[in-house]
Amino acid sequence: MKVTKAVFPVAGMGTRFLPATKASPKEMMPVVDKPLIQYAVEEAAIAGVRDMVFITGRNKRAIEDHFDKAYEMEAELAAKNKLALLEIVRNTVPRGVNCIFIRQNEALGLGHAVLCARPVVGAQPFAVLLADDLMDTDTGVPPVLEQMTRIFALKQASMLAVQDVPRADTRSYGIVGTETDSKLVAGDTSLEEVTHMVEKPTPEDAPSTLAVVGRYILTPGVFDFLSTLNPGAGAEIQLTDGISRLLQVEPVLAYRFAGRRYDCGSKIGYLQATVELGLKHAETGEQFAAYLARR
Ligand code: G1P
Repeated sequence: MKVTKAVFPVAGMGTRFLPATKASPKEMMPVVDKPLIQYAVEEAAIAGVRDMVFITGRNKRAIEDHFDKAYEMEAELAAKNKLALLEIVRNTVPRGVNCIFIRQNEALGLGHAVLCARPVVGAQPFAVLLADDLMDTDTGVPPVLEQMTRIFALKQASMLAVQDVPRADTRSYGIVGTETDSKLVAGDTSLEEVTHMVEKPTPEDAPSTLAVVGRYILTPGVFDFLSTLNPGAGAEIQLTDGISRLLQVEPVLAYRFAGRRYDCGSKIGYLQATVELGLKHAETGEQFAAYLARR
């Protein structure tokens, strides 16, 4: 089976970026010149995803507008013969991709948001991308979700992108316990089989320091578990709890991805992403590097 659908939970309030997120979605915050959600959608499209399923909420209209046609702007740019800009405006939706919007009308948690996608995803494996986590890779290295879909094509098992974090930070993540010598992962140092998973444990209780970041490939079996869950950590229906039930009945892999993750849900991560991507950007890179060197 191939991964052709991706779920983008975008209903969160983004309180860590107030006042910027008072009236506009946090997923629309730009890094250099592109909103966070567009980075995630482009990553999914490169990985072969065709149906982008956004789980939205109140105040998220700008996301729908961003992935829609902008008639007036396109007409104006065409009339003025600003063709490069016209291309940029037209290409916010990658070619051959469908955008589907589902409203999550109560903020019941990430697990609940993913469950809202069930009527569209059905009985197929799917990806989940948290746009807050901006994933960057070196030139020549496939984007993180593509790394994962390639492995999925071989293993046909659910998979979580993971990275090591300082033990003091386990409170901010889903943390996995793993084993490295199961049949599915034998001989591959980037893969481990998940034996258990806990949402935001204290450093003392954390089973390891291996943290899940916002890229998942899940088999549809997870929906059954999500639909019967009680609220967990933070009184929310947690995706982590659904996955920890799933791994009792089928293998779930932890994948140490190649690349860097910027936590754009935090101010410091957002600033780091802006600096790094600003330095890489074709238009700003050189000038920005010169500015940083002399300041
Ligand atoms: C969510 C998940 C958590 C995961 C994290 C990655 O938490 O619940 O398991 O480690 O994303 O960014 P949030 O950051 O939404 O609190």
